Amino acid sequence: MCGIIGRVGSDNVVPYLLNGLECLEYRGYDSAGIAVHTENGISFCKTVGRLAGLREKTENEKTSGFVGIGHTRWATHGGPTETNAHPHFSHDRKFALVHNGIIENSNELAETELAGVSFNSETDTEKVVHLLTKYYNGNVVETISKVISLLKGSYALGILCTDYPNTIFSTAMASPMVVAQTQDGGFICSDAGAISAYSKEYYPVKNGEICVLNDSSISFFSPDGQPMEKQAVKIDVDELTTDKQGYEHYMMLEMLQQPTAIKKTIMPLIKDNKINLENVDITDDYIQNTLREVVIVACGSAYHAGVVGKQLIESMCKIRASAEIASEFRYVDPLIDEHTLAVFISQSGETADTLAALRLAKQKGAKILSIVNVSGSAIANESDNVIFTRAGREVAVATTKAYSAQLAVLYALTLRLAKGKNMLAEDVEKKMIHELASLPQKIQQTIDKNIEKAELYANKFAEATDIYYIGRRLDYAASLEASLKMKEISYIHSEAYAAGELKHGTLSLVDPGVPVVALAGDAEIFGKTYSNICEVLARGAHMLVVTNESNAELVSEFEDTFIVPDTLPQFNVSLQIVPLQLLSYYTAKKKGCDIDKPKNLAKSVTVE
Ligand code: G6P
Repeated sequence: MCGIIGRVGSDNVVPYLLNGLECLEYRGYDSAGIAVHTENGISFCKTVGRLAGLREKTENEKTSGFVGIGHTRWATHGGPTETNAHPHFSHDRKFALVHNGIIENSNELAETELAGVSFNSETDTEKVVHLLTKYYNGNVVETISKVISLLKGSYALGILCTDYPNTIFSTAMASPMVVAQTQDGGFICSDAGAISAYSKEYYPVKNGEICVLNDSSISFFSPDGQPMEKQAVKIDVDELTTDKQGYEHYMMLEMLQQPTAIKKTIMPLIKDNKINLENVDITDDYIQNTLREVVIVACGSAYHAGVVGKQLIESMCKIRASAEIASEFRYVDPLIDEHTLAVFISQSGETADTLAALRLAKQKGAKILSIVNVSGSAIANESDNVIFTRAGREVAVATTKAYSAQLAVLYALTLRLAKGKNMLAEDVEKKMIHELASLPQKIQQTIDKNIEKAELYANKFAEATDIYYIGRRLDYAASLEASLKMKEISYIHSEAYAAGELKHGTLSLVDPGVPVVALAGDAEIFGKTYSNICEVLARGAHMLVVTNESNAELVSEFEDTFIVPDTLPQFNVSLQIVPLQLLSYYTAKKKGCDIDKPKNLAKSVTVE
């Protein structure tokens, strides 16, 4: 969960490193540092905190050079201190190294391979740089090859060696790393998006491959140090665009992009008014004769999308389904086999627990289908079948448009499975596909009708210390995501409860004035949710009710309401979540929080 950039060029490398790190800050922002080749060896600059601090320090210290590496950190081994910040150095200062990932056997290496060596930092990374010195024989590729054979875990490494002042070395295993060539050298980077202004194609480095980048060439070597050829991949400009378009925060831009994200996601999945999952190996025969259950596995908001998927698949397809948290799933020896369709949802396609869960499901013989936003990511690469969400690049740590696009794919998947199971009457199919195609327009209406209210209600919510979200069935699934959105960016404690469950404990926390957000879209059980609303109202809660236009009359007695357009019940979550995202945004804004980069979090979670 760190970001790496490196550049070989013919002008001062420092601004390139700083700008690149700024784009990579979504991967971690506890501390940052750079190392640069100079005439007097490798010089470096590190700071704790945001990149602005590093910018200032490099200016004061007049750091400059043509070749350098940089790192933005999300602390795992050792707190966010300047000593623990990367780059790390060998004691003889011959090597400087930046690392993304986790070296799982770092303690063991310290006691065996590196017995007697002193360490400056508490990091796992520092062990790697001392191993480089230990095994250095003048040939850096051979040395890297030896060192990585000793490592367990995940790594993307950027390495400088004083014997090769015009060169950057890199390698990667289960952590993203790309290399791109430019006229005067090139870049290494954790994310092609951060270097897309300089090159329209890149080479992914993976599976322990080693790359040598200098001012005239890029060469690749297999993990055991043998030269190898690699194919360049074209950069998808749409997928990688990071322009804030004048908005104060990416989150606002991304919430407003939801209609487009959904439109782009569903367009390729609908053909002649039918769901068409081309390239996905799910046939009617498989659905009818092999498939016994669907297991959806993910983390964070992607898991919340999975909770929606589970309910839809069970109710519409009559196939047993579950939604599992990846970090739990992978350690409980799940009962899955060749009759299981295992669906992995991930925006980044990098989340370590989701990836590990995918590998486990593969081992157990399940059919793998992933729903991923980033093409070329590890989860996409390792899946037999992928349906891409087309949300475009998402920068804000709190996901909005990617979550909405994931829901859209789950609707399409549900319809495909229902059809294969002969559970979808033709008129219902027609209605549902029409409604699915109308979602972008209805989300736009939802935004237009509720954005001002969200800003207004945020004045009250920003004063709260606790907020509760309640709902039943799909309304509950939506409240899980709404509550996460609120807590992660506003730092207000919030919880989502199945509305009927509140009275079994949590109701004791509802004092006069405590905000309770009730999602009451499910017409079939509206009355039941309404009773729960009355229960919290009786305790003096400050109510905010979210419901559809046709229920608007029923909730007109409440001061605060978000009214969303009518839709089929299956699609309600996609509308309800929008005003609640906006409410979280404005609440966090009123509180002066760092909306795009909430404290302690990172967008791409590549540690377990
Ligand atoms: C982080 C992000 C969340 C995201 C989760 C899973 O916690 O902040 O927004 O839902 O990781 O990430 P993924 O990339 O797998 O969807």
